[in-house]
Amino acid sequence: QARQLMPADILARKGGAPIVCLTAYTTPMAAMMDAHVDLVLVGDSVGMVLHGLPSTVGVTMDMMILHGQAVARGLKQALMVIDMPFGSYEESPEQAFRNAARLMRETGAGAVKLEGGQHMAETIAFLVKRGIPVMAHVGLTPQSVNTLGGYKVQGRGADGERLMADAKAVAAAGAFSVVLEKVPQGLADRVTAEVAIPTVGIGASAGCDGQVLVVDDMLGLFTAFKPKFVKRFGTLGEQAEAAIAAYAAEVRARTFPAPEHVFADEVKK
Ligand code: KIV
Ligand code: NA
Repeated sequence: QARQLMPADILARKGGAPIVCLTAYTTPMAAMMDAHVDLVLVGDSVGMVLHGLPSTVGVTMDMMILHGQAVARGLKQALMVIDMPFGSYEESPEQAFRNAARLMRETGAGAVKLEGGQHMAETIAFLVKRGIPVMAHVGLTPQSVNTLGGYKVQGRGADGERLMADAKAVAAAGAFSVVLEKVPQGLADRVTAEVAIPTVGIGASAGCDGQVLVVDDMLGLFTAFKPKFVKRFGTLGEQAEAAIAAYAAEVRARTFPAPEHVFADEVKK
């Protein structure tokens, strides 16, 4: 398409062709994926995959803005969604609006994403009524790792009803889509069938309305650990390390730089 996608375009894809989403944190990666995906998420996963933080809890507004600005420069077609970092929206709808507006104003993102179900519904409605499209995120919500007690599968057994209620609450509040992270396949399919907005799965089900992965995970660039739901579509980390080792060996052997990389003392006439 010629113009950049908008949240309403994503919403209209409910039940249609799968919505393709990836994270990005830099201009070149965003530019590389722009023609291939529908939605680019500037995820707070940036803290773990690019900054070496132990969880997403340490990610700040300033980090999100800097990476958001970089991603925006690489996109022409895909919708850009930016994560609200931990501590920037939970306190009140007003706090959420102030920070969501700053993220959109300073990065040019078309929407924000925030974590939480029923307890965030009031905030989602507050933002949407005031011009800020919201992507919701339920199931495993990594910013709550300290209260969840780890990165466990969410919504198994009786907890499935709570997860269904969370997804229905964010849809009723006006979210244009909802990420389902690390939930059982059957539950993800039921949520997809019963909720009116597109579900975007990560560790959920191929039956979701779309899928998302962390780009460094799927490229094999982030290798500190690999969640079960990650498929490595490439091995860029291994290739990068081999290239670095080859460079180091050539520098030590004085075979790099070679004649074609150096400059003559006199310019030939
Ligand atoms: O931060 C992130 O990358 C995310 C996706 C995994 C959904 O929230
Ligand atoms: Na995130």
